[in-house]
Amino acid sequence: PAGAPDKALAKKITKVGVIGAGLMASQFALLFVRRLQVPVVITDLDQARVDKGVAHIRDEIRALAEKGRISGDEANRLAALIHGTTDRAEFADCDWVIEAVFEELEIKQNVFADFEKIVREDTILATNTSSLSVEKIGAKLAHPERLVGFHFFNPVAVMPLIEVVKAPATNDETLSTAMVVAKNLRKNAVITRDTPGFVVNRVLAVLLGEAMRAVDAGTGFGTVDSALAPLGLPMAPSALLDLVGLKVGAHVLDTHHNAFPERFYRSENLHKLADYGTLLERDAKGKVKGFDKGALKLV
Ligand code: 3HC
Repeated sequence: PAGAPDKALAKKITKVGVIGAGLMASQFALLFVRRLQVPVVITDLDQARVDKGVAHIRDEIRALAEKGRISGDEANRLAALIHGTTDRAEFADCDWVIEAVFEELEIKQNVFADFEKIVREDTILATNTSSLSVEKIGAKLAHPERLVGFHFFNPVAVMPLIEVVKAPATNDETLSTAMVVAKNLRKNAVITRDTPGFVVNRVLAVLLGEAMRAVDAGTGFGTVDSALAPLGLPMAPSALLDLVGLKVGAHVLDTHHNAFPERFYRSENLHKLADYGTLLERDAKGKVKGFDKGALKLV
């Protein structure tokens, strides 16, 4: 709907704040530090979560160096730019703060309301929500004009797209900054409307929802995967669900179902699997060995 905003309006980013230190957040924290070469501060509910996220980022930096993608010096520099903390005051001088906390509206609303009291009035706030309304997420903000959706895809390092979601209140300066940040991260950015699932998840929810509908009707996961393989999907539905996380997948389907019950499917089985944790069995290196037998018993 919106044209490309004037790049001249974009704000300079000299420090980034990441709220949430889970898998997605730590993957994009690494991308920010690598591509923008600025300090990145990352936080979560407690020190254990922060430490886990930071350890993951450091492992990824080491892996990049081992693959020869970055030099040893660069690896040390990137690692030094990442700082994990539970002290929210360290976000006070961030120009850009992005969250990837649990996909629950009230949690995200409160997170932003809390951090708005800490950051400067001109700090840009971004949400990596996969399908919630950005407008609603900003409902408790004094300045919702500086909030924008900034939606990454799994695996963050590989997938080239970012959906930049313009809520009704998002101003041009915020949108322009988001577009320039995406470009500097070397991603392709598209500006989408603030509708459930934006563009990509709206389409994926059909695919994954219908795959789950077939499973729930008694067709095995393996059969669904094999049946769809000739379509040339980059990943089988089961692998894609496992990659995005079964909890996130179930949540995305629910959000769509709640918005358009006649069009999107809600799978009870997917919720059972989400509680179980995984659908696929992997080896120590994370390579998929096949379906997890315990998970299959649940459906
Ligand atoms: N994490 C990190 N890196 C990964 C990865 C993972 N899970 N899987 C693969 N990669 C990397 C590999 O290390 C490799 O990097 P390298 O070139 O540096 O060695 C590169 O990706 C290519 O890997 P492969 O050779 O194994 O390539 P594949 O051909 O198997 O492609 C893929 C892997 C790119 C992940 C491909 O399967 C794909 O595109 N899958 C679809 C993913 C997708 O649809 N993502 C969107 C999900 S929806 C979402 O995230 C939104 C959320 O809101 C729910």
